[in-house]
Amino acid sequence: MDKIVIEGGHRLEGTVRINGAKNAALPIMAACLLLNGPSRIKGIPNIDDIHTLSKILENLGGQIKRNTDGTLEITFMDRENQDKFTAPYELVSKMRASICVLGPLITKRHKAKVSYPGGCVIGQRPVDLHIKGIKALGAQIDTTEGYITASADRLKGTELSLKGEHGTTVLGTCNVMTAAVLAEGTTIIEDAAREPEVQDLARFLNKAGAKITGIGESTLTIEGVRELHGVDYEIIPDRIEAGTFMIAGAITRGNITLENVKSEHLTAVIDKLKEIGLEIISVGNTVSVKGNNLYHPIDITTMPYPGMPTDMQAQFMALLCTVEGKSIITEKIFPDRFMHAAELRRMGADIRVEGSCAVIKGVPFLSGTNVQVSDLRAGAGLVLAGLVAKDVTHVHRIYHLDRGYERLEERLSKLGAVVKRVDE
Ligand code: EPZ
Repeated sequence: MDKIVIEGGHRLEGTVRINGAKNAALPIMAACLLLNGPSRIKGIPNIDDIHTLSKILENLGGQIKRNTDGTLEITFMDRENQDKFTAPYELVSKMRASICVLGPLITKRHKAKVSYPGGCVIGQRPVDLHIKGIKALGAQIDTTEGYITASADRLKGTELSLKGEHGTTVLGTCNVMTAAVLAEGTTIIEDAAREPEVQDLARFLNKAGAKITGIGESTLTIEGVRELHGVDYEIIPDRIEAGTFMIAGAITRGNITLENVKSEHLTAVIDKLKEIGLEIISVGNTVSVKGNNLYHPIDITTMPYPGMPTDMQAQFMALLCTVEGKSIITEKIFPDRFMHAAELRRMGADIRVEGSCAVIKGVPFLSGTNVQVSDLRAGAGLVLAGLVAKDVTHVHRIYHLDRGYERLEERLSKLGAVVKRVDE
């Protein structure tokens, strides 16, 4: 198993290119199950979650090829694969996002058997809203023996809401939308997720022949069509990867420029960084981040888009540990997503977690030590903390990081960080 070793205290400078969005790539790849003919999708990052989904899609009969320019070619020959409809436990248990094959399978192959993803370290993560949506479209669903098994003839358009206790659901919206595109008649999804990744999926589907309107709004209207065709498409840049690099610049009081960024997807993140005291300049597809030594504490509440993303919470927590004064983070999406707080405390941070709130008091310095990654974004937070900690930080269990960040240590090194990957 690999670990990342970081010698803290080096100011970052230079330019980094942001990859395509993992959370757009995953549902878009799954949506290829719906298409007749090959698709070429540009900008899919070369990370473990993409490899896991590729295996699931290959099991379902997909042919997947990565070209040298990073484009993924995905083809399903439907007539040969109609009897393949299972996403097994061995693969789904590696990655919860595998659930996004449910909608495409049930509408295209009329049967789906997807392992129940279960909870995970960031919280309970139920799938009741996914099931509610697919059922509303007319599928019969059974949830015994650890699998969601669904069957249906052609699904029928309907009106439904995806509002849950913690707001709407991102992948649930993707599942219901992908199921509805081939349904008979019109589907109206109220309280749909508005995340840029959901919008990207809708645009991909429309390019393939779907009829979805209301993209980016909380009411989506989907007029079912008989079939969809293969397309060439380019994935949006990863706003969470961009936000993570912005904080790498901020925490080291550095000066870095990010290329391939859609700053309009990062309004909440940029506003908070400005409130802390950073200078952020967006020109076209580039964003420059200029740090300084005069940061202010802030309060943050994670919310569905366009609010502050929960996937940036751990990174902000690392930064706020280095800002004098008291900051408060309230987690409204995954109220238990604070596993990184205990590891940051091991580095000398002053963080008190009370229910879904974390109170952070800035400390004069963090100290390098051994820390364990519990999930992808927690890992990003710990690496960021390591960049400024005194001495050396050893970040263990980085397989979580490899699920979502491509060659993170190499790209940080190019910006001047002293960081390497070591086989333990
Ligand atoms: C997506 O997960 C992302 N994953 C997550 O990113 C992200 O943290 C999350 O959205 C929130 O933005 C992908 O896109 C692959 P949700 P998802 O359903 O769709 C509750 C990362 O680090 N809920 O929007 O699974 C749920 O418990 C990952 O890249 C229900 O109650 O999240 C949570 O409180 C981690 N019932 C809230 O809704 C349901 O049926 C939002 O979860 C589904 C969800």
